[in-house]
Amino acid sequence: MVNRYYAKISGTGRYLPEKILTNFDLEKIVDTNDEWIRTRTGMSERRVAEPSQAASDLAYEAAVIAIEDAGLKPKDIDLIIVGTITSDHAFPSTACIVQKRLGIKNFPAFDISAGCPGWIYASNIAKQYIETGAAKHALVIGVELLTKILNYEDRNTCVLFGDGAGATIMSRAELTDISKVIDSDISADGTYNDLLIQPAGGSRMPASKESVENKLHSVHMEGNKIFKLAVKSMYNSCDTVLKRNNLDVKSIDWLLTHQANLRIIDALGRKMKIDKEKVIINIEKYANTSSATIPIALDEAIRDGKIRRGDLVLMSSFGAGLTSGSLLIRY
Ligand code: UT7
Repeated sequence: MVNRYYAKISGTGRYLPEKILTNFDLEKIVDTNDEWIRTRTGMSERRVAEPSQAASDLAYEAAVIAIEDAGLKPKDIDLIIVGTITSDHAFPSTACIVQKRLGIKNFPAFDISAGCPGWIYASNIAKQYIETGAAKHALVIGVELLTKILNYEDRNTCVLFGDGAGATIMSRAELTDISKVIDSDISADGTYNDLLIQPAGGSRMPASKESVENKLHSVHMEGNKIFKLAVKSMYNSCDTVLKRNNLDVKSIDWLLTHQANLRIIDALGRKMKIDKEKVIINIEKYANTSSATIPIALDEAIRDGKIRRGDLVLMSSFGAGLTSGSLLIRY
């Protein structure tokens, strides 16, 4: 199909809950220590949502900021896609709840379950809606409240994750626009679907007394195996996008990857042979917010004046599924 239009990112926003949980706080909860967490992951603290807050609450706050940043009103939005694995409910979708809170209706709104690359998957889909003319201003959100599904007796997982939301507006670009979504690649290898999983609560294992007692509604992860696959899958995805657009890594101004582990980010940077100064990192403050890491870091880097109009930004992620994907934009 011939694309009729180009897409661009026209606005960004983020929302982080106020409550901070430091590594030292975690020392009091589980058998861990600040030194282990910092040296093995790069994390120092993470945000924790209030008991009353759900995904749509965080997503809504980020969305309002992104819509305003794009110079739009909620009524201008004609597509909402939310990447999340911690939605308010199994159904209806968080996207529909956000739509209602924004006071808008009568256009597609749906969630994407793609693990940590949820926002990349959602952006890939939104790009196609914009390019074909099916939508003009898409609200694309990555939101996660992983702390609600962590087992705080399992030190292998409970220190790694935090809560937050990042929102972007993807709009139809004008012919004169320098900004453009250049390309996107998404993929999955389902053979690894059991490495990172919330075993209970779905149709495979509905909630029961046993499932709750055995803590099967929380995150279960074989971190070591995922670590090895992470670098490979993000490298392959970035390589696909760069090659497809005849671009050398030297032309990339910023590499913004999923913030799951500083050692994974460093290893990818080394494999790609990209300057360290070009790699955006905020894992120390927010830890792993799954599908929200990239849109949060994107918004932060733009507002901090790091990423400027015209910069070439390559974003990449991997996660439960095992899924992976990249998005290349000229901001
Ligand atoms: O968002 C996408 C999905 N998630 C990821 O990308 C996570 C990818 N994996 C990782 O980031 C790393 O594998 C982890 C951070 C999860 C673990 O780091 P590691 O260097 O692979 O450690 P390990 O699992 O091999 O464990 C090494 C040791 C073990 O002790 P022994 O058996 O050697 O005595 C663990 O029990 O570290 C121990 N350990 C801890 N110690 C203190 C594991 N977690 C902790 C902890 N505090 N929180």
